[in-house]
Amino acid sequence: MYRIVKKEKLVKDIDRFYLKAPLIARKVKAGQFVVIRINEDGERIPLTIADYNRSNGIINIVSMRVGKTTALLSSLKEGDSIMDVVGPLGNASEIENFGRVICVGGGVGVAPIFPIARELKKIGNYVISIIGARSKDLLILKEEMKDISDELYICSDDGSIGYHGFVSDFLKEYLEKNLTGNADKRKDIARVIAIGPALMMAAVTRVTEPFNIKTIVSLNSIMVDGTGMCGACRVEVGGKTKFVCVDGPEFDGHQVNFDLLLSRQKTYCEHEKECMDLYKHKCGLLE
Ligand SMILES: Cc1cc2nc3c(=O)[nH]c(=O)nc-3n(C[C@H](O)[C@H](O)[C@H](O)COP(=O)(O)OP(=O)(O)OC[C@H]3O[C@@H](n4cnc5c(N)ncnc54)[C@H](O)[C@@H]3O)c2cc1C
Ligand code: FES
Repeated sequence: MYRIVKKEKLVKDIDRFYLKAPLIARKVKAGQFVVIRINEDGERIPLTIADYNRSNGIINIVSMRVGKTTALLSSLKEGDSIMDVVGPLGNASEIENFGRVICVGGGVGVAPIFPIARELKKIGNYVISIIGARSKDLLILKEEMKDISDELYICSDDGSIGYHGFVSDFLKEYLEKNLTGNADKRKDIARVIAIGPALMMAAVTRVTEPFNIKTIVSLNSIMVDGTGMCGACRVEVGGKTKFVCVDGPEFDGHQVNFDLLLSRQKTYCEHEKECMDLYKHKCGLLE
């Protein structure tokens, strides 16, 4: 059992949970995730380890309520426990001194980009962060991102805060302004790391391709076991089959077949809706 030592509501439908998990906290590196199962009948879902404290053995996960399991998770309180938390899983992010890097986070994707940006900054990279949400009241971790970024840009789809538009639109304008005709090689961007909805990551890769900037994305395919056994998280990268849980979750975004990822994400839509309706019914939220 893994106790929730603290719970914070970040914005509507997004919570941060602090879990006592000393063995995971000791080993985890930025970019890795856990697979949780709330109770005996629960399904397994993957969530990125958004932060960790090795000395007190606490990890935190940030979860957006999108369906049955994340709704159940969101209903848990401080002092409650989660039955299984397996991890750290997946490969850690590549943390090296690349020079200037751009970290792009969209929606709940700001949470997993945070530890990566912080580790990149720690070892001397110049970190430019671009984060966004649908509107001001849905933006998470603004202050945390500000503390670890050399430059921070905020975007919102509705223009209620920062740049009015998608993070990928801002990125395009930023690159055009700063790189086009730039003779000063020190200003070159060594890589872009993007985490968020698949459509957002696909848009970022389309923006960076003409600039020839290496772009890393963290894929959010459907997962079951998280250990390479079930095949649920199959994606296509560079024309080859890869499993996000063991080969990823990070891949070269220019090689990812996003159409396949998007269609596989929809595989269980009907079943997921049915589960959510049953759950709502059980909780008295649905007639
Ligand atoms: C490596 C990885 C890290 C992730 N990190 C985070 C995170 O830090 N915070 C966060 O809020 N979300 C994260 N996700 C997505 C999260 O796992 C899904 O939102 C969650 O599984 C949805 O479950 P549900 O029962 O609430 O919703 P459902 O109604 O079951 O599904 C809603 C949508 O979520 C996706 N999904 C469903 N089941 C899974 C599954 N088992 N694995 C992956 N995606 C699924 C599908 O696209 C589906 O259409 C991550 C996914 C991956 C693969
Ligand atoms: S989740 Fe089963 S193979 Fe990746």
